[in-house]
Amino acid sequence: TKYKIAVVPGDGIGKEIVPAAMEVLLAAGEKFGFSFDMENFDYGAGYYLEHGKFMPEDALEKLKAFDAVYFGAVGLPGVDDTLPAKDYTFKVRTQFQQYVNYRPVRVYPGVTRPLRSEKPFDFVVVRENTEGEFVQVGNQYLPDEENGMGVDTSIFTRKGIERVAHYAFQLARTRRNKVTHVTKSNTLINSLSYWDRVIKEVATQYPDVTHDQMYIDNASASFVLKPEVFDVVLTTNLFGDILSDLGGAIMGSLGLGGAGNINPEKDFPSMFEPIHGSAPDIAGKNIANPIGQIWSGVMMLEHLGENEAANAILAAVDKTTESGVLPVDLGGSSSTQEISKAVISNL
Ligand code: NAI
Ligand code: MG
Repeated sequence: TKYKIAVVPGDGIGKEIVPAAMEVLLAAGEKFGFSFDMENFDYGAGYYLEHGKFMPEDALEKLKAFDAVYFGAVGLPGVDDTLPAKDYTFKVRTQFQQYVNYRPVRVYPGVTRPLRSEKPFDFVVVRENTEGEFVQVGNQYLPDEENGMGVDTSIFTRKGIERVAHYAFQLARTRRNKVTHVTKSNTLINSLSYWDRVIKEVATQYPDVTHDQMYIDNASASFVLKPEVFDVVLTTNLFGDILSDLGGAIMGSLGLGGAGNINPEKDFPSMFEPIHGSAPDIAGKNIANPIGQIWSGVMMLEHLGENEAANAILAAVDKTTESGVLPVDLGGSSSTQEISKAVISNL
């Protein structure tokens, strides 16, 4: 099989970790009998500096023709930081109806975790990815220097909540049968109590799945104090954004987290990217951790149906960290390429 993959490295460390992780995917293809028809797209903040926009008008039309989009991160210091989401990530996610942001959190062997408990954990944050707090509906009112206000509106629709909820409950059935939905409906009394109400209705269709609810403040503390209690964490766009960085942190580093922006119906391509951003503070030094990017590639292979290759890469990554080949953010000294090369040789 040959898969058509659109590669969007983006900016900063995206330009380093995407090529390194692609090498791993190509090696897996060779071993397991598939290949890629790849096309590179230079969209992002760098493109913006030259053309005044993050991507050309026909970009989404072009991306639509691919089986998947393999993405790094966008954003550069000096470029208005309200643009990366507005002009790229949120645009692709909404236009391609990638309403599930799938972000697993687990233990890597040989990686020190900043937690008190040594208990292993393995859960998935399912973040609603197309609406909620990120709809960018609002305004700034600035009549003069002394007075002003900013307003952002969150929008939660029945359709938007139901579809991600069904995904989470079905996912739980393939795991440990538990969904924890995370809101703050005690204070966001309109939007998030509506969310609760719709989730509870959906839950009745999955009587075999344990369903509980937590507020975001308690859930954040629980990620640190007892992460082993979670299986599927279902939450909103903003809360899922924050909780998944926390998920990265409890694994040992943001650089370990991978993600899939998934359109479960497959009527548009899904997009696979690490949970973190373009990390300008370490860009250009060849020290970025490529493991989150590699893990996103694993999710892409799963989405394409190449489960055997996906599992083999994960095992090779585990073998790599276990053997002490670690990047700088995990206390090691291996470069981006040294990590990906070690993963390939363990494959
Ligand atoms: P960030 O995630 O880029 O970096 C946060 C911290 O984590 C930094 O200290 C960075 O060095 C470290 N880090 C992140 N990934 C790493 C890796 N693979 N290996 C080692 N260390 C790593 O978040 P920040 O600094 O808030 O944002 C930087 C830029 O990225 C901004 O322009 C922001 O808008 C953009 N951004 C883009 C995203 C996307 O394209 N999906 C997501 C988040 C932020
Ligand atoms: Mg984020």
